[in-house]
Amino acid sequence: MDDVILGGSTARELAHRIAQGLSVERLTPALERFPDGELHVQLEADVRGRGVLVVQSLAAPCGEALLELLLMLDACRHAGAGPIRCVVPYLGYVRQDRRRSPGEALGGKVLAKSLDAAGPSEVMVVDLHTPAAEGWFNSALTHLSAVPLLVGAVRNWLPPDAVVVSPDLGAAKRAETFSEATGRPYAIIRKVRHSATEVVVRDVLGDVRGRPALIVDDMISTGGTILAAARALRDAGVERIGVAVTHGLLVGPALESLELAQIERLWMTDSIPHHGPMPFPTEVVPLTPLLVSALRAPRGR
Ligand code: R5P
Repeated sequence: MDDVILGGSTARELAHRIAQGLSVERLTPALERFPDGELHVQLEADVRGRGVLVVQSLAAPCGEALLELLLMLDACRHAGAGPIRCVVPYLGYVRQDRRRSPGEALGGKVLAKSLDAAGPSEVMVVDLHTPAAEGWFNSALTHLSAVPLLVGAVRNWLPPDAVVVSPDLGAAKRAETFSEATGRPYAIIRKVRHSATEVVVRDVLGDVRGRPALIVDDMISTGGTILAAARALRDAGVERIGVAVTHGLLVGPALESLELAQIERLWMTDSIPHHGPMPFPTEVVPLTPLLVSALRAPRGR
């Protein structure tokens, strides 16, 4: 269905691997930044009449990555490409899913409307922070789960007496899914967020004492949630801690926080590219098999 793959600056390697998996040509658009900071995107090949797949993750800075994605979609549309699909392995802004106080913007919905307006025939995403965000899109949306890949990756580490831990109420469903897939019990931490970087744990619900713990979440941003959860678990008698997440944003003090949390191992997918060395054992779980198989699946049923 796709004749050519266009990789944005936050997903070049992923786009390359998808192109290999689908055996299609990959293009890298020319990206220029004007002196005032404006982005300029230029396709350097004729895509008229060709099916195009645009791949871009909303890695930090999220707004810039989004704008680049919108510009790539616009360039394809005006160049006469069609159909145009996009894969956004990490879709940012979805944490802005409700108004906690009057006057707040619904950032996630604004983002969905912007993407719709760019006119892709399909948007493919992985592990949305809020599954209900699917309803914000008018474009056809394919929402994939990386949980089976992560479950496969943690199996060799996961001791028989381990407990799966949700670091907040929001990740409880995910913990339940991991628990069912691995046959381990699960526990839930109740956390309160005071600001974007400050979280406090209220209590740990479930039997964790003396057990190795696998904390599961959709993302690590600053690492505050994982650090608070790890401290609460240690206070509750846990010594060994692993962490498995889909999106490793790892911004701000994340690496320091994870080091302080003394985690034994981190598993995260390549929805966000990372290049630097990690200060603790880390396994990057490739999304390519999941994406390639979903992209190959017949449409229109
Ligand atoms: C919150 O509901 C999310 O699922 C994550 O727990 C949170 O966004 C992680 O952020 P941070 O790493 O900054 O605590």
